[in-house]
Amino acid sequence: MSKLGARVFAAMYDRMLAGTEEAGLRDHRRAIVSQARGRVLEIGAGTGLNLEHYGPEATDLVLTEPEEPMARRLRARLTRGEVVEAPADRLPFADDSFDTVVSTLVLCTVPDQERALEEIRRVLKPDGRLLFLEHVRSHDAKVARWQDRLLPAWRFVGHGCHPNRDTAAALARAGFAVELESWRMPKAPAIVRPAIEGVARPG
Ligand SMILES: C[S@@+](CC[C@H](N)C(=O)[O-])C[C@H]1O[C@@H](n2cnc3c(N)ncnc32)[C@H](O)[C@@H]1O
Repeated sequence: MSKLGARVFAAMYDRMLAGTEEAGLRDHRRAIVSQARGRVLEIGAGTGLNLEHYGPEATDLVLTEPEEPMARRLRARLTRGEVVEAPADRLPFADDSFDTVVSTLVLCTVPDQERALEEIRRVLKPDGRLLFLEHVRSHDAKVARWQDRLLPAWRFVGHGCHPNRDTAAALARAGFAVELESWRMPKAPAIVRPAIEGVARPG
């Protein structure tokens, strides 16, 4: 991604999401993020829209974000914890070092989803949990076809975002035991409305 693209995406991000956040995404974030416990790693933390939802049970907070313009906004919002500029596919942390990993709207964007999931498993303690909230490939074949067709344009608009990933299947392939709920992202384009959220445990 170009540096200019990264700057524009970061500058517009909160405004682009505002309608969806107000219409319900913020409540879904709270439901997922408030479950974080112990030493917590959030990947691709963006501008920090999850920060307000961490409770006192999240005793130690590490936020990773590979894009500098996003990381700058994240630091400005930070009231506790630390920001580490790193991609999810190369996490600079020891094996078995986190109780919770949080991923919201990131597994659509990581260039290599399989590798990112391997890294998440590696840094999670054996009894740790991945808390996720992601938009995903539609079960409706017609919508899924549009998600495939519009992939190049959407990747450009969404700064690397893939609207057509079957993330639940990828989690299962990566060996996670998954509990999830499906829902629909409000006030969002049809190709990014199908969403899942839940808990994945390393098998
Ligand atoms: C759609 S935004 C989501 C931001 C935030 N998680 C949220 O819920 O609002 C996708 C984020 O993934 C980040 N990202 C891009 N490539 C990444 C990678 N390889 N590893 C981790 N995060 C990545 C982007 O910089 C961006 O902050």
